Amino acid sequence: MSTQHTSAPEIVSGTASDRIPQHRRYLMCRPEYFTVTYRINPWMEPANPTDTAKAVAQWQTLHDAYIALGHEVELIDPIPGLPDMVYTANGGFVIDGVALGVKFRVDERRGEERPFMDWFASHGLEVVEPVLVQEGEGDFLLVGDTILAGMGFRSTGESHRELAEVFGKEVVSLTLVNPSFYHLDTAIAVLDPVQGPGGVERANIAYLPSAFDDRSRAILEERYPDAILVSDEDGAVFGLNAASDGRNVFISPRATGFAAQLRERGYTPVPIDLSELLLGGGGIKCCTLELRGRANGGA
Ligand code: ARG
Repeated sequence: MSTQHTSAPEIVSGTASDRIPQHRRYLMCRPEYFTVTYRINPWMEPANPTDTAKAVAQWQTLHDAYIALGHEVELIDPIPGLPDMVYTANGGFVIDGVALGVKFRVDERRGEERPFMDWFASHGLEVVEPVLVQEGEGDFLLVGDTILAGMGFRSTGESHRELAEVFGKEVVSLTLVNPSFYHLDTAIAVLDPVQGPGGVERANIAYLPSAFDDRSRAILEERYPDAILVSDEDGAVFGLNAASDGRNVFISPRATGFAAQLRERGYTPVPIDLSELLLGGGGIKCCTLELRGRANGGA
């Protein structure tokens, strides 16, 4: 019997099937000692109570969602007295198996510097000790083959030169102007951080225009004409503090406008509520450090 193939309707561009999820390897830290005892960003209010068990439970849903969608999660042991260690994005910046350590602007977190570098070293990464002040992937985002680097509140502009030298990549400095969006990863979400061939054409971001000065906004408009511009309302619930695998975008359930924008573009929003961790001024992306291995598949 001969089968007559009728041609299937073309998949409309922008549907979820367009987007290819890429495997990710993340470093996370269970917030066993999470609390807010100092104030180093406008979200933190030591007088307000925190619920560590709730923070752990919410964090666990993020961890489990990553695993359920096929990603790998490594864990670093939490250390008593370092309540912000859960925000592993600030633990370093890792590309091609090379881990640049951090040098915090804020004294309260300096105790995390050595533990993160030790973790990288004992997990096969080549560690570069930082000279200048910067707060890792909280302020540095790899988009295609370019690093977007934030300054204004935490990382210094001088550190961007060091960053370019260490990784041999183009570094674009962006200035943050709103203290509530003090790390770059609170104002930009990298949606298609494809590395390697084809990466540049698919590289795309979402951002909060009001978090940047005019110069930086002009740079973003020019380089990412297709970017998703996120509303102040969605920015204010930390909507941009999101992680993406190129298809699934892990975002705050409160960022409903951003979720709709993502769906229109064929991404699948995966809502994860980290309300308790927002009391420390961090969200999904802050709790996630990407471990990019060597291109040949090494560590
Ligand atoms: N309390 C932490 C701090 O102020 C929150 C860090 C959030 N991390 C991030 N990648 N945005 O340093």
